[in-house]
Amino acid sequence: MATTDATQFLPAQSHGHLESLGNDVWWVPGTMRMNWYMGISRNMVVVRSGDELTLLNPIRLDDTGEAALAELGRVRHLVRLGCLHGCDDAYLKQRFDAAFWCQADSRHYPEPPVDHALQEGGALPFADAQLFAFREVKRPECALLIRRGKGILVTCDSLQYYPNWERHSLAARLLMPRLGFSKRLLVGPLWKKFQTRKGGSLQPDFERLLALDFDAIVSAHGAPLMQGARAAARAAVDDAYAG
Ligand SMILES: [Fe+2]
Repeated sequence: MATTDATQFLPAQSHGHLESLGNDVWWVPGTMRMNWYMGISRNMVVVRSGDELTLLNPIRLDDTGEAALAELGRVRHLVRLGCLHGCDDAYLKQRFDAAFWCQADSRHYPEPPVDHALQEGGALPFADAQLFAFREVKRPECALLIRRGKGILVTCDSLQYYPNWERHSLAARLLMPRLGFSKRLLVGPLWKKFQTRKGGSLQPDFERLLALDFDAIVSAHGAPLMQGARAAARAAVDDAYAG
């Protein structure tokens, strides 16, 4: 592993343990602290292929978490699925000397440089994967389908599932319902506003997304939805674009 001066990067934020989702896939329930009163959930997915680990929506773990990762395998790939999630990517690149995968023009976090540009039909870090790229968005966003079991769709901000408000601060719990969040699978309301062009719609993208074969969704916020996710996604898209 590369030597890292960890002080130049954001410290690891509060997070839980690696939790198995089956089929050599894990998730980590983490957090993102914006300021002293506002904190939200933030998740990472870990996929093992052979002894190689791929981190999707990567987040920095504490020393115990990094030791747990090392027990699973070697971190070889970092995949940024959404342009607004990337604050730990530069640290992880240095820490693990891993290949960094990202869509072109993801400039919100300019570091680290892209090793592999993500595009539909292009190369991916492990074999049983399929990339979905939103086309109508203002800033890069994609999702990755893990073709294992009945299919696990990993999203960043596009679809988010909240069975509860765990890992959200009191201020966030009070504010989020007023911003359009609720305890279900939904199209990220703030993301939708941020990403929709004037006069445009992301509905055609979501219709393409719904054609993928998946039964579970793990997004970068909230918690995994491990059954019935496609029907829930259908309902979320219908609700987001009703009327
Ligand atoms: Fe997000």
